Amino acid sequence: MAFKKLKKTVAVLSIAALTMGVFAGCGQSVEEQTSDNGANDDKIVIGFSMDTLKEERWQKDRDVLMARAKELGVEILIQAANGDDNKQIAQAENLISQGVDVLMVAPHNAEVAASIVEAAHEEGIPVLSYDRLIKNSDVDVYVSFDNEKVGRLQAEYITKLVPKGNYVYIGGAPTDNNAHLFKKGAMDILKPFIDKGDINLVYDQMSKDWQPSEAQKHMENALTANKNKVDAVICANDGTGGGAISALAEQQLAGKVPVTGQDAELAACQRIVEGLQSMTVYKPIPKLAETALDTAIKLAKKEEVETNNKVNNGKIDVPSVLLEPVVVDKENMMDTIVKDNYHPFEEIYKNIPEDQRPKQ
Ligand code: BGC
Repeated sequence: MAFKKLKKTVAVLSIAALTMGVFAGCGQSVEEQTSDNGANDDKIVIGFSMDTLKEERWQKDRDVLMARAKELGVEILIQAANGDDNKQIAQAENLISQGVDVLMVAPHNAEVAASIVEAAHEEGIPVLSYDRLIKNSDVDVYVSFDNEKVGRLQAEYITKLVPKGNYVYIGGAPTDNNAHLFKKGAMDILKPFIDKGDINLVYDQMSKDWQPSEAQKHMENALTANKNKVDAVICANDGTGGGAISALAEQQLAGKVPVTGQDAELAACQRIVEGLQSMTVYKPIPKLAETALDTAIKLAKKEEVETNNKVNNGKIDVPSVLLEPVVVDKENMMDTIVKDNYHPFEEIYKNIPEDQRPKQ
């Protein structure tokens, strides 16, 4: 462990020099992280390299991980790359050079991140793929949700509302394996409707880096190309859903054309109770973060990890834990998001007059 400590000190000095990205470690400053004394030397240290903190959900991931790490007495070092592949690689290398016991990675780019796995393995550090799969690598374990099911839930929900008509699909980042899984799940449900000729997929595009502004442009293009004759919109997440709803609003169509989402972001929950968005897919982030951290600790202790699945990443079948996503709409908002205290009741219903809010 002495070697580990030396490596940590050197690496932290280089972080200070480079001042790269976001750095978070159980609320401690960088200096405090180096001041571990001998007694702390055996503490498990987990690195987490994140693509982004842009969407609200990733901030929740970070917050839950930090709280849980504190509770369990492990140290967690978190860096976020703002969607920049080179930055993510540099940050991951930095975490590796700090001698972390395990590296968790939520990759910006599923393929590029394979080099992070290689670099970590060269130092004997196991890697956990967090929420997003790292493709074509020997990644040790993958912890996520059933992402094809997320897409199926979106399409099942909206085809019940609109079994016939012109559909628009606005997907996520092509660099994110999840975006492809969400789309596959949705298309599996749409296919029989399309084959029958009931549903016409009039527009189908992915959105670079999951940007809501890209989704808004897609929706504007779809409306223009179809003279506003769009009956349903499947958006892969709440961010893109928000973008699409802004474009619909420009044409006075918000609330008239059903739109899906994912993440149960506060803004999306508000739109749902206001009737602007039809549904979201709720993925309880505390469950993901806690499962991932518990799994990472087992990897660090070289204990056997519990998994419930295997997912092929192009190179190997990755032992995986896949959690269950849940549909949320106006009807079950109280029984899901409010019940779990995912967002406060007052916030979700803040734009709804008090006498029209459900009873708590
Ligand atoms: C996650 C979604 C998130 C999206 C954009 C996906 O990989 O699974 O929850 O909305 O990335 O960050």
